[in-house]
Amino acid sequence: MRILVTGGAGFIGSHVVDELAGLGHQVRVLDRLHPEAHDAPPGYLRDDVDYVQAGLEPRPLDLALDGVEAVCHQAALVGLGESLADAPAYVRDNALGTAELLAAISRRPGPVGRLVLASSMVVYGEGGYRCAEHGQVRPGPRPAGRLDAGRWEPPCPRCGADLDTEAVTEAAAPDPRNVYAATKLHQEHLAFASMHAGGPPVTALRYHNVFGPRMPRDTPYAGVAAIFRSALEAGRPPRVFEDGRQLRDFIHVRDVARANVLALLSPEPVPGVFNVATGEPRSVGALAAALAAAIGGPEPQVVGRWRAGDVRHVFASPELAAERLGFRAETGFTDGVRELATAPLR
Ligand code: UD1
Repeated sequence: MRILVTGGAGFIGSHVVDELAGLGHQVRVLDRLHPEAHDAPPGYLRDDVDYVQAGLEPRPLDLALDGVEAVCHQAALVGLGESLADAPAYVRDNALGTAELLAAISRRPGPVGRLVLASSMVVYGEGGYRCAEHGQVRPGPRPAGRLDAGRWEPPCPRCGADLDTEAVTEAAAPDPRNVYAATKLHQEHLAFASMHAGGPPVTALRYHNVFGPRMPRDTPYAGVAAIFRSALEAGRPPRVFEDGRQLRDFIHVRDVARANVLALLSPEPVPGVFNVATGEPRSVGALAAALAAAIGGPEPQVVGRWRAGDVRHVFASPELAAERLGFRAETGFTDGVRELATAPLR
């Protein structure tokens, strides 16, 4: 198949490209090699792939879409950013960029067979919670006063009682908590709106916390695994926020790439939204400890500070993706962390 991967020089996109090219597909990449993400063209770019260095703008999109049968849309500005001053950049790159892609697809003389969209679990806000009295509930943002007092767990929004956590499913109502999350949800909405207006079938993959080789290093846009790894490499202890017991689903980047490939190559398109997760949540403290042990660095420090906009727990049911896409994560946490200890970052 001829497949366009936007953001195909980035952390996740480049692994999707490797998988597709390895299977013998013809891959074209549209990537602007954003200077904040790349000092220079990364060494892992491939000779058998056609790279177009440009952003999600009409003319390069029209050229890049020529002849392709499927689009895998990975290009995005990720992470929390530094402040609300970044909001226009997120909206431009993620929302407007997706709108430009969809408009270019609609301008094409022939249809595109399918669109696979990189979405994120950030669209959920908090994960799943259950109150003994009120059943399933969705707690709101945690007030600063509670967090300053070290009360990390969100209470039941109806009675204030303690809650049990549970896996979030795709049926949960989205509740984006920061600008990045809002733009990820907007990307989903735009893509499905285009599908309902006659555009390509859309598979939106809600990635959980992705880690592995080629992760961006310690920047405002980096995930916690890269931040911990960079600290340990410099001989500093990983600084664990809150009490370190917050849960996430850490999934290896090669598994995430494989989920994309399954969605791109299934005999028929599989429209819908899907969690891309392992189903085995771990605490941030456990990640720090495992990485420190694998690198042989200093013990993690639980620093008790908290980050505005962070959710407490979010982990997911991987069942729908297993059933509909045949996707199950294969790289275990221990093996993945061991690899991350020495993997090249960016
Ligand atoms: C992350 C990504 C988000 C992505 C999502 C799913 C970032 C900033 N966030 O959200 O873009 O869509 O995964 O893949 O890339 N923490 C520490 N110490 C640190 C940094 C963070 O303890 O130095 C804690 C945070 O407080 C949080 C947890 O680690 O509790 C995870 O943080 P992070 O890696 O930023 O991920 P998410 O916010 O879950």
